[in-house]
Amino acid sequence: MSKRVLSVETSKMVGQEVTIKGWVNARRNMGKIVFLDIRDRGGILQAVGVPSQMDAVSVETMKEVRPEWVLAITGLVQERGEKQKNPDMPTGNVELLIKKLEVLNTALTPPFEIDKNTIGINEELRLKYRYLDLRSERMKKNIILRNNVSQFFRKHLLAEGFLEIETPILTKGTPEGAREFIVPSRVYPGQFYVLPQSPQQFKQLLMVAGMEKYFQLARCFRDEDQRGDRQPEFTQLDIEMSFVEQEDVMSLIEAMMIELVKTVTPEKRIQQIPFPRIPYKEAMEKYGNDKPDIREDKNDPNLLAFCWVVDFAFFEKTEPTSAEATAGKSGWTFSHNPFSAPIPEHREQLIKKERIGEIVADQYDIVLNGYEAGGGGIRNHTPEALRSVFEIMGFTDEQINEQFGHMLEAFDFGAPPHGGIALGVDRVIAILANEPNIREVIAVPKTGDARDLMMGAPSPLPRKSLEDVHIEIKK
Ligand code: AMO
Repeated sequence: MSKRVLSVETSKMVGQEVTIKGWVNARRNMGKIVFLDIRDRGGILQAVGVPSQMDAVSVETMKEVRPEWVLAITGLVQERGEKQKNPDMPTGNVELLIKKLEVLNTALTPPFEIDKNTIGINEELRLKYRYLDLRSERMKKNIILRNNVSQFFRKHLLAEGFLEIETPILTKGTPEGAREFIVPSRVYPGQFYVLPQSPQQFKQLLMVAGMEKYFQLARCFRDEDQRGDRQPEFTQLDIEMSFVEQEDVMSLIEAMMIELVKTVTPEKRIQQIPFPRIPYKEAMEKYGNDKPDIREDKNDPNLLAFCWVVDFAFFEKTEPTSAEATAGKSGWTFSHNPFSAPIPEHREQLIKKERIGEIVADQYDIVLNGYEAGGGGIRNHTPEALRSVFEIMGFTDEQINEQFGHMLEAFDFGAPPHGGIALGVDRVIAILANEPNIREVIAVPKTGDARDLMMGAPSPLPRKSLEDVHIEIKK
């Protein structure tokens, strides 16, 4: 058997004998002649089985072959007749005249057709058999796009002098707004790790450590209700830099996104460069939300409208507790990120806790076609400013020290001014792929109700496993 080549390579190999290996995408019988579309990671090639050209065993084998069987086929690459050429197919100028056909594996009939777009198939079925769904052309294209986007981000940031640094998954809870997934400790009964909502605190501590330019394609975990643009685990392109101001972070991201679009989806057009900057108040008044879809033509699949939303209020009022209501007071919580700094003009106000509702955060969101594609801010890097945020939110000294003692202590050791951003990678890719939700661009996503149907998670555990981690299930 000759060396394996990929289907796409055959378009330039007319006259040569090659072996291709792959799956039967489709089978068509034309009397005694059988056409097999063979799919491999490079694409699809039409193979032709003419009994007189094949060895006797192969002729018999051919009778059995069904869609999704895995085959090795050796044959002659020949030019198709002018009328048979298919310009829509990269290998449409050639076909493989089968000489020898070997079955590497058989396959059951798939529960849905994978040689067609699977978007209309019942999603639970697609997710249970994700490995089959991913064989379909559209899904494979999405996964390849995802790879291209991640690799672009890496290359771009490495060239800008960033370091890719991994941060822990087993960690401690942080108040970034979402409910957290918790992992019981076996060694410390009654104690728990928490999965990170984002690497926020770690990346700030890496700035204290002098790394200056950090990035990570970071998996984040949030136990919140699902929507099309939300998953319980998702990926951020997480970035943090030292000695920067808002403008530095925004211009880095803006240049990177423009280059990203040029590189991975050159057919797309960015509506406006530089990206417009819209103050939060204006966004609410003009568009009624803080992630305005400013596209001139919402039906143009190749139009990308980026904008920044800036000037967010730092704090917002919380529902008063009954004690606060009686005292005629109400509490405050952060509107975006408790680690943000106020804009420089409002720094005094934060420290003195004056006119709290008017404090503006040094915070920016990047919006793409009406989706929040990312958010970030310049951080408080002095212990007193960070402490002030938690005091305004009504934390006691004890609570502050218990939850954020490590951050305050670190900031006492010469924390540089710093800031950053995190992009929602799944959302960016879904928009670039023109997909209606982020599940279409994640290899193995969870369902809308947070299950992994392929693996069957979540699932009960044997009693012994629970005892090991000191857990008893309440009836
Ligand atoms: P934030 O919480 O805004 O900021 O998250 C950043 C971006 O991540 C995406 N995102 C999600 N994508 C899919 N599923 C989810 N459940 C989900 N939640 C968020 C969004 C969002 O804009 N630490 C800060 C960043 C920083 O300040 O540097 C943070 O996590 O696109």
